[in-house]
Amino acid sequence: MDISIIGSGYVGLVTGACFADVGHHVICVDNDQRKVDALQSGQIPIYEPGLEEVVHRNVSAGQLAFTNNIEYGVGHSQIVFIAVPTPPQPDGSVDLTYIERVAREIAEVLKDYRVIVDKSTVPVKTGEKVAETIRRYNKGGIDFDVVSNPEFLREGCAVSDLMNPDRIVIGSNSERALTLMKKVYEPFMAPIMVTDINSAELIKHAANSFLALKISYINAISTICEATGADVEMVAEGIGADKRIGRSFLNAGIGYGGSCFPKDVAAFIAISEQLGAPLALLREVQRVNKLQRERFIKKIKDTLWVLKDKRIAVWGLTFKPDTDDVRNSVAIDLVNDLLSEGAIVRAYDPKGMEKVVELKLCEGVMLTRSALEAAENAEALVLATEWREFQAIDFEQVRKIMHTPIVFDGRNLFDPRTMRRLGFTYHGIGRGIVG
Ligand code: UGA
Repeated sequence: MDISIIGSGYVGLVTGACFADVGHHVICVDNDQRKVDALQSGQIPIYEPGLEEVVHRNVSAGQLAFTNNIEYGVGHSQIVFIAVPTPPQPDGSVDLTYIERVAREIAEVLKDYRVIVDKSTVPVKTGEKVAETIRRYNKGGIDFDVVSNPEFLREGCAVSDLMNPDRIVIGSNSERALTLMKKVYEPFMAPIMVTDINSAELIKHAANSFLALKISYINAISTICEATGADVEMVAEGIGADKRIGRSFLNAGIGYGGSCFPKDVAAFIAISEQLGAPLALLREVQRVNKLQRERFIKKIKDTLWVLKDKRIAVWGLTFKPDTDDVRNSVAIDLVNDLLSEGAIVRAYDPKGMEKVVELKLCEGVMLTRSALEAAENAEALVLATEWREFQAIDFEQVRKIMHTPIVFDGRNLFDPRTMRRLGFTYHGIGRGIVG
């Protein structure tokens, strides 16, 4: 199939590269000439395991190309995917200006039948608006279909998620479009669910909000564990063993972050309110998430008493491991909380530090070259992102180099008993008596 993808951000780039890898011809279109130049010269703007290799392989094979020319992309493909940003507005609703602009741009260069697929995360009923806009701006009255095809990629494992999806959701009201969409996904050999457009759009928001709800649920349980001496890890195992519940996304911690859950939960609340069917339940999800970080800071303060001038090491800055993405990272918020209390913060992250500097996210933090360097002479160590490499560190040595061996484990990465045995004062999340 000949495919073009408008927007070479996270979703667009990973989708384009993987579509090319299964044999489609893909043109990635982006209006940022610098990004296009970089991609053409083999530079990948994001860190995502496996992505660079897939991009290079398919560019060399002539399966994948980059351009800033939307007319060229639309002209040379049967299917046009829209994968542009849908950023949040201050009231939580979604800014759909990029989607609207791309819809107009496609309409203006549309010369033959095309399937226009919305891959960006959008509120329900956006597909209807996209179709209306294309109809209005396409002077030639060319036939087209709009399809909703939400993505379910997780940063850090986006390539393998795309290559091995649990399901593919195609929201379409047209048999013609559906036939073409099925050809796109045939090589992935995954179950395809066909729905109407509104249901497909809802599936995306409802799925992300449910996962966020699961996290807030276990985080709320962690507070009961702390009040009673129970251990949230055991509770999560116990309830997660029930197949109807499942163990994943029941990891208690300092809350969810990133560019998806906070934005999508807020957007789902906003659209539900606009539709007169408010999802009050999700407001509680947001409240628990915010509280989780506040409770963690309180725990640090209760132990260290005054934070001003205290030397605190922070391990992990990205919103989760295996990514360099530091946007909306709870770890960054935590560092800023500590800095605003007057603490002296030395932080280390395996992949996120460049972006922290570039985006000026925590001014005043001292970034170090290694986890051990951050811990040197520290009065407390805070684990904010659960990178696997932190688990492998020699804690005998950490204890020796710290001024006072106190650990606040915001992601329950370490075993409380082992830490105790090694001479640390250990505080986890919901680890009750042991923590
Ligand atoms: C999320 C969804 O998992 C994807 O299915 C979806 O496609 C994507 O959003 C999107 O809408 O584009 P992502 O934000 O990359 O993916 O990362 P997750 O692995 O879902 O983690 C999100 C946040 O939840 C992280 O801050 C993580 O630390 C936190 N989390 C996750 C927990 O606190 N506990 C858990 O048990 C799981």
